[in-house]
Amino acid sequence: MEAPNPIRSGFQAVKNRKETLLPAYALKLAGRLGGASPVFLYWKGRVALYALLRAMGVKSGDEVVLPAYTCVVVPNAIFYAGALPVYVDVRPDTYGLDPNKLEKALTGRTKVILCQNTYGLSADVEKVVEIARRRGIFTIEDCAHGFGGTYQGKANGTFCDAAFFSTQWNKPFSTGLGGFAVVNNEALIPKVEALEKEKQRPTLQETSLLRQLIRMRRWLVRDWSYWKLVALYRWLSRYNLILGSSQGGELDDIAMPRNYLKGLSAVQAREGLRALDHLDELLAQRRKNAEIYTDFLEGKGKNHMARELFPNHSFLKYPLLVSDLPTFQAAAEKALVPLGDWFCSPLHPIATGLERWRFHTGDFPVAERLARSVVNLPTDTLDPDKVVSLLNDHLALIEPI
Ligand SMILES: Cc1ncc(COP(=O)(O)O)c(C=O)c1O
Repeated sequence: MEAPNPIRSGFQAVKNRKETLLPAYALKLAGRLGGASPVFLYWKGRVALYALLRAMGVKSGDEVVLPAYTCVVVPNAIFYAGALPVYVDVRPDTYGLDPNKLEKALTGRTKVILCQNTYGLSADVEKVVEIARRRGIFTIEDCAHGFGGTYQGKANGTFCDAAFFSTQWNKPFSTGLGGFAVVNNEALIPKVEALEKEKQRPTLQETSLLRQLIRMRRWLVRDWSYWKLVALYRWLSRYNLILGSSQGGELDDIAMPRNYLKGLSAVQAREGLRALDHLDELLAQRRKNAEIYTDFLEGKGKNHMARELFPNHSFLKYPLLVSDLPTFQAAAEKALVPLGDWFCSPLHPIATGLERWRFHTGDFPVAERLARSVVNLPTDTLDPDKVVSLLNDHLALIEPI
């Protein structure tokens, strides 16, 4: 018998170990989501959305309804599936789709309604699902911000036909880039499974770059370096000089990037398995900081995060409306508070020309007002006093309730 080749056996062992990472990660995620529905892994959250739309049979001429306060990659995935996005204005207190404005947007062509967990808050999901079921329309929960949180005591992502999640840099837990879908409607499972064979594998170049970025982030991101690194990362991504969350063209156009339907890599799965072990600690810290900010703002008569929303909120970010955004941002930068600018546009981060995405400025007054004034306070900070001090020094800029 031929003696085993040690180099080949070594490679095989590494390959086997890598191949077990993906199913182990999917199982762990499914477990956290109640264990009743399967989880499918993708290169990014937006790709998971695209796969779900395809599995739901979305095709040319169909309409997909979504909140008018989202990330542009969401309508992009709808376009890539061949459908048209139809926006609905949001509620000012939840930043989520306003169910009272939903029915007017539905037509005989509506195939799917997307409800969105924004900043960690699940709101009105039951109402949306009820309206959709009555009309035979599929529902997807955009839980890009919501993993680990609950709605009515059940894990986010378990109420709709399906949900998708993001594990990109600043999400509830991070795998650098990454996403997954949970499929609750049994009839859809074989359709999502059928798409598995279309999934591209991430290239060696992509995975090794991502590994480097994950390491660099671990060492470099500190309060003092945050603002400079965010600016650098966005600039490099825009010109395709780095593996960004959005590649240049994705933010300029509605054409599908090459090799879009891509799976997750072992590098991301390993990172995810590690990060999940610390998620509960992080969730507790976010909630504690959100309580601190709310107590302070309430005391000053400036609170706009209603207490009754807390049970359905996991506080990935703490949104705050300010009257003079540039001044507040400059103050945060000076105070070394890592303030977020998520949804500085109703189709974040697109500043102009929203009509290309069929978004007609002026039609969504609530979403447009929120986007003009919103900043996001960090909830993962170990130094909430620094944030409270910033708020205290700039109370006049904080918009009243
Ligand atoms: C609300 C929302 N949905 C979807 C996505 C897309 O997630 P990903 O970047 O993983 O594709 C994002 C992105 O950050 C988002 O904010």
